[in-house]
Amino acid sequence: MENHQTKIFDFDNLKEAAGILKEGGLVAFPTETVFGLGAIANDEVAVKKVFEVKGRPSDNPLIVHIANREMVSHYVERVNQTANDLMDRFWPGPLTIIFPAKEGMFAPSISAGRPTVSLRMPNQLETLLLIEMTGFPLVGPSANLSGKPSPTRMEHVLNDLSGAIDGVVKAASKQTHIGVESTVVIAEDDRIVVLRPGAITSQMLSQLNIPVIEMSAEEQLKSQDLLSPGVKYVHYSPKQAVYLVDAHNTLGEWQSFIRNSKINIGVLADEEWLRLLQDETAVTSTYSLGPRGDIARHTKELYAGLRYLEQSNCEIILLQGLAESDAAHAYINRSTKAANYLI
Ligand code: TXA
Ligand code: MG
Repeated sequence: MENHQTKIFDFDNLKEAAGILKEGGLVAFPTETVFGLGAIANDEVAVKKVFEVKGRPSDNPLIVHIANREMVSHYVERVNQTANDLMDRFWPGPLTIIFPAKEGMFAPSISAGRPTVSLRMPNQLETLLLIEMTGFPLVGPSANLSGKPSPTRMEHVLNDLSGAIDGVVKAASKQTHIGVESTVVIAEDDRIVVLRPGAITSQMLSQLNIPVIEMSAEEQLKSQDLLSPGVKYVHYSPKQAVYLVDAHNTLGEWQSFIRNSKINIGVLADEEWLRLLQDETAVTSTYSLGPRGDIARHTKELYAGLRYLEQSNCEIILLQGLAESDAAHAYINRSTKAANYLI
């Protein structure tokens, strides 16, 4: 890996960050979901560097971030009514739409050989300005090493990529607002297909009065052209084994699991359960997912908590599960991906 000084930019020196991007550099940026690793989407050399620095398999395509709707017509072959309705309703926001790509517009590596391109307009002022200043769309895979949880704080980006990228843009808030990656959809003429669940839930998508179906990772893997290659890669996992504890387990069941284990345990759970479990001798580290029942907060803290406990001296991590609901769906999807075992 080349050794760069990774520079921290803020609102006042975005122009300098844009200049580095225009010269082919890599600059991470905040979004409302997680931090992205930016490079100019038309610069094949820079895009290749993004894959290299993350250790990302070259068959996994990148999301392109745009700042205005003109960029869509410029880069996309065809925009149907469904896509227009989705953009009207949910952009800027945590929704990525897969379009048929116009040939020759983007660096070829972005789409990993497929005829499509996925676009997203993030709801983050600094990043919209950064894109406007460079004058080009920016690729933005999550700014983590492949296999690690996506970064929700600037420090997470630096922990993974400091020295390997040119810079990172600091956001006004310490932690990204949503905490898990965007919802990824295909906008078909007569239905919306969800490939990756996120903060824009199926219930919200159904407000457009068109059928919404979610394709599970298993179905995507079986489908001929492997719709969203990301689903096949291990993700979000810390070095310790993660045990996902089903939402229906009682406090007594948590306690008996903890008392039967002879090793140091890290617990990632809501503040009420942490209070009840913190005196167990095997529990050596804890991270709070916020008030019990606050699903948005649990989702926002999930990756930060996994990263925090990974750095602690615990040997396994117990992660609190949530009962299935539209709002909890993205949390359940990501916590299941992070888990090695279910309790
Ligand atoms: O919230 C997010 O989406 C964040 C922020 C930074 O915007 N970005 C992000 O990117 O999560 P990444 O690269 O970590 O995840 C992109 C996902 C992958 O699972 C990839 O396979 C899928 O989107 N994807 C991208 N382009 C695609 C395409 N043309 N067809 C099918 N799947 C695609
Ligand atoms: Mg990612």
